[in-house]
Amino acid sequence: MTDFPHVTKAVVPAAGLGTRFLPATKATPKEMLPIVDKPAIQYVVEEAVASGLSDVLMITGRSKRSIEDHFDRAYELEEALSAKGDRERLAQVRESSDLAAMHYVRQGDPRGLGHAVLCAAAHVGKEPFAVLLGDDLIDPRDPLLTRMIEVRERLGGSVVALMEVDPAQVSSYGCAAIEPTDADDVVRVTDLVEKPPVEEAPSRWIIIGRYVCAPEVFDVLRETPPGRGGEIQLTDALKVLAQRDAAGGGPVHGVLFRGSRYDTGNKLDYLRTVVQFALERDDLAAELVPWLRDFLAKYDEGA
Ligand code: UTP
Repeated sequence: MTDFPHVTKAVVPAAGLGTRFLPATKATPKEMLPIVDKPAIQYVVEEAVASGLSDVLMITGRSKRSIEDHFDRAYELEEALSAKGDRERLAQVRESSDLAAMHYVRQGDPRGLGHAVLCAAAHVGKEPFAVLLGDDLIDPRDPLLTRMIEVRERLGGSVVALMEVDPAQVSSYGCAAIEPTDADDVVRVTDLVEKPPVEEAPSRWIIIGRYVCAPEVFDVLRETPPGRGGEIQLTDALKVLAQRDAAGGGPVHGVLFRGSRYDTGNKLDYLRTVVQFALERDDLAAELVPWLRDFLAKYDEGA
């Protein structure tokens, strides 16, 4: 039984410049970098669909056309594979175009995540909606977003995903001040601070790239001035909602996430992700594991 409207739409911001991954991202979106053989953003759309959200709005920008092509039909390729009778690859090619009802809007100027989310206002309307960052992967076996949607449907307002990190890392993220609730994995968020110095961090719980937002977030974003880095921050808008009651679009709750998350927008995490995903693949692990062991043994000898 739910007390609040169902969440049916997902917004996937993918218009960032990807400067941490240059030069690869000069003409290729970082969201299209492959994790083994599938672009990162396909995992994100699959997660939205697995959580019951089959209406997906992608926020794209310049140099991002390959994202649209990836989720569209590829007739020439499909015909060539069909003619060869290669059913397996044909199914792989069709998988991404059959996933969800995809919609696109362009963010002319990448003025921050908050600004990217605001570009979704006309498509979303007055409904609650999920936001999944296009370069942030959650272990596909973890039902984080499903749980966040459940919490939103029970408690209203907005819901963020929180992950505990070492104090030294807090200053790279948005950090939440939290209070417990009746549920072990759910907290009330009383304040949010974007990239606080360690000594000013209200907790060790940082915001990761999954959100369920109340539609009131759009009005707040319209009034939100550029914050850190001259960008309009989603965290700043959620901070406002955290201090409001239900009539104003609040409150904000956090779901405590203890699983695996991969930030594929930075090089080191990207490499870790590719290795981990490859090691879990039956078709690759049998040869990759002995090679990796051998390679590391030689590497250690040489070090
Ligand atoms: P990031 O801060 O990781 O993206 O934003 P970025 O700006 O591309 O990163 P760097 O620092 O330059 O490497 C998180 C998500 O929000 C999207 C990004 O595409 C990414 O998926 N985003 C960010 C937008 O859609 N628009 C923006 O203006 C900023």
